Amino acid sequence: MSQTPSPDRPTTRRHSWAEPYKIKMVEPLQVTSRAERESALAGAGWNTFLLRSRDVYIDLLTDSGTNAMSQEQWAALMLGDEAYAGSESFYRLERTIQEVYGYPFVVPTHQGRGAEHIISQVLISPGDVVPGNMYFTTTRLHQELAGAAFVDVIVDEAHDPASEHPFKGDVDLDKLQRVIDEHGAERIPYVSIAVTVNMAGGQPMSLANIVAVRELCDRNGVPLYCDITRIAENAWFIREREPGCAQLSVAEIVRRICDLTDGAWMSAKKDALVNIGGFLAVRDEGVFDEARNLCVVYEGLHTYGGLAGRDMEAIAQGIRESIAQAHLDARIGQVHYLGQQLVREGVPVVRPLGGHAVFLDAAGILAHLPQDQFPAQRLAGELYLEAGVRTMERGIVSAGRDPRTGEHRRPRLELVRITIPRRVYTQAHMDVTADAVLAVWDRRASVGGLDMTFEPKYLRFFQARFAPR
Ligand code: F0G
Repeated sequence: MSQTPSPDRPTTRRHSWAEPYKIKMVEPLQVTSRAERESALAGAGWNTFLLRSRDVYIDLLTDSGTNAMSQEQWAALMLGDEAYAGSESFYRLERTIQEVYGYPFVVPTHQGRGAEHIISQVLISPGDVVPGNMYFTTTRLHQELAGAAFVDVIVDEAHDPASEHPFKGDVDLDKLQRVIDEHGAERIPYVSIAVTVNMAGGQPMSLANIVAVRELCDRNGVPLYCDITRIAENAWFIREREPGCAQLSVAEIVRRICDLTDGAWMSAKKDALVNIGGFLAVRDEGVFDEARNLCVVYEGLHTYGGLAGRDMEAIAQGIRESIAQAHLDARIGQVHYLGQQLVREGVPVVRPLGGHAVFLDAAGILAHLPQDQFPAQRLAGELYLEAGVRTMERGIVSAGRDPRTGEHRRPRLELVRITIPRRVYTQAHMDVTADAVLAVWDRRASVGGLDMTFEPKYLRFFQARFAPR
């Protein structure tokens, strides 16, 4: 086991990241013609979120809810207790969360943003400031809707796609202390960290940094809450890269991270290997009481939170599978297999390669386009036209507008995310995807910009429409 920083390939297996499973059921894929894709993309206003999945060949839009469940998860569905109140499935999920993550109090929610909504409403008062390691779209929006301003305190390297920093998810402790000094600890309801950091490229936080953030929070009397949506992947990177951590299991690292925080929310649609679900988990009984009270308003009774009993069974099983070393070796190994093909050909991608996706540096690839012409949105469209591969913009469109000024937020990262669902696609699908990127890379000089023709008020990237200039 190597401890050198930033290997782009897993070193836990010397030869292969081969999947620790075989395929029992298959779902047919449809290959479309270029003309069909042109018509579908125009109909979708050049927004890959507005394509119908039947028009997509390889769907790398997201790793959210797109995972393949195991036979154990499918079997667990049959055990779902669909009682309105006091479902056994809830208690099984609660016990799993207590055992794996260590939080005593659990509120199930329909997905991650349901938990983000509740924790934001419980902890935030209007005028508060929430520091965090880079924004995530739904997380920040719920913090803003509760009356807070989000302040980014991630290390500078996170905003530089070429930086090889092994833990680009780390918090810059000086930035965090400055935010607390400037606004006063009483205006900071909590520090909001995420493991891994999605918008930075699926980049991990180091255990040492989380320890230091905890100490800083304690010195200032500020709670620490964590988005643990991709915590198993973050733990894999810590084990791989952080000095002194190679002897720990992923499960132990996961538990250490959670032990350092006052509570967490999770979109179970990622790490936990299901198609729907999420939860909030906290240590403070007062916070729990308020959270489960809001749960009955917005989600459902506090023992189902918008989920069927069978969903909670699948999540409980998925959480246990998510921390298996062989699963994570294959999962991240596949992401890196794709990424290395692009790196070898000189395509600018976010370095080091992250956990759930390969992020193309659209600002580097379409360097002739100003950010106002939405280079990443265009590049995602071009990949779809090229081979029916669906990816997602993570740049100026995703960043949205500043609620105070109404101006575009201009993130330094203008990225296209090629996101890999867990246990779904094969090595050959990764090859097709790499070929599509390389074909667009070859003709990049002739790719033009886009105009935005429709802009929704909230989370505009989901529904905005565009036309070629
Ligand atoms: N936190 C993180 C880090 C996420 O990546 C997501 C969702 C959420 C919270 C919200 O969870 O979707 O279950 O409501 N990310 C998806 C993605 C949408 O494609 O990255 P949700």
